[in-house]
Amino acid sequence: MMQSAIASAERPLRVGVVGVGVMGSNHARVFAGLPGTELIGVADPDRKQAEFVARTLGCVAVSDVGELLDRDVDAITIAAPTHLHRDIALSCIARGVHVLVEKPIASSVEEGREIIGAARRAGVTLMVGHVERFNPAVEAIKDAIRGEDILSIAITRVGPFPPRMSNVGVVIDLAVHDIDLIRWFTDSDIIEVQPQLSSAVAEREDIALLQFRTASGVLAHINTNWLTPFKARNVTVATRGKYVTGDLLTRQVTECFGFQPDGSYSMRHLSVGHAEPLRSEMLAFLRAVRSGVAPAVTGEEAVASLEIATRCLSSRPTAVVPAQRKGPRAVVG
Ligand SMILES: NC(=O)c1ccc[n+]([C@@H]2O[C@H](COP(=O)([O-])OP(=O)(O)OC[C@H]3O[C@@H](n4cnc5c(N)ncnc54)[C@H](O)[C@@H]3O)[C@@H](O)[C@H]2O)c1
Repeated sequence: MMQSAIASAERPLRVGVVGVGVMGSNHARVFAGLPGTELIGVADPDRKQAEFVARTLGCVAVSDVGELLDRDVDAITIAAPTHLHRDIALSCIARGVHVLVEKPIASSVEEGREIIGAARRAGVTLMVGHVERFNPAVEAIKDAIRGEDILSIAITRVGPFPPRMSNVGVVIDLAVHDIDLIRWFTDSDIIEVQPQLSSAVAEREDIALLQFRTASGVLAHINTNWLTPFKARNVTVATRGKYVTGDLLTRQVTECFGFQPDGSYSMRHLSVGHAEPLRSEMLAFLRAVRSGVAPAVTGEEAVASLEIATRCLSSRPTAVVPAQRKGPRAVVG
């Protein structure tokens, strides 16, 4: 590990945030309130936004990552637009600075691998912000299915169009969260993808129905879109002995178990914690930085999820039956 980036347990870690829009301003807020951490500054070319965040949290505002690196920081979180992750991460890593990169790790699998390689060579911590892993409802589901024979997983992640459209569609922006969850719940690689995509309003896909099979034989399904007037995030896991269902927004998790031959079963609500997922994620990052152990979400895991998401975009479903009737989209009568 590079000496410049190692912080002793006695002194606070000097941290910064690059990109303080919607997500990064939350990173900065959380950093500012964490014990053993000193928020040195935030970097964003949007001076007004950087100064607003810096003034609110009592740190300096700079325009780019280079100026932040000049302030001798130990660790940086990167919440700039995804297409900039690689360049920003590489410049931090080159200075021996530990990085927490927002999801998706990069714009492409190749760029993600470049970040992993650079971090490994420099001996710095690289963690990726798959924040749903730290959602207490997700943790409760993971606990409930531990040791169970998992059969299928269904995840719904829908909502309205984001206020600012980035240059990615729902698969890379949203489904990548759930691809990561499927891999994490099953502890198995995804070996088959069957995507159905549509661009109803946006240029990129804004509706996706994705089906997967893992190496362990679990069938999984993701329903995601930007065409639902309200946000919904639901996870259902069917195992041989349980049916677990969780609402990731209300954090209510229920399990059905004790299936009887007459069709009856028992049901209970599981206890779910209240921690803020982003705070838990950032604490996990700082623990990894301090201890040098592998972080909770590695670059390799993030690239594996991005690779599956990318494959969903490139696979073309094959038509099995020639269409006899096309029919209008709006069915009359
Ligand atoms: N984990 C999650 O649930 C989650 C949620 C939303 C966004 N994200 C991720 O966070 C990242 C940012 O998304 P967002 O929604 O906050 O976007 P955003 O547009 O709100 O914020 C991005 C910020 O980066 C700034 N920026 C642009 N170029 C920069 C540069 N060269 N250096 C530093 N800052 C720069 C912009 O001025 C802006 O303030 C994306 O990678 C996105 O995928 C993750």
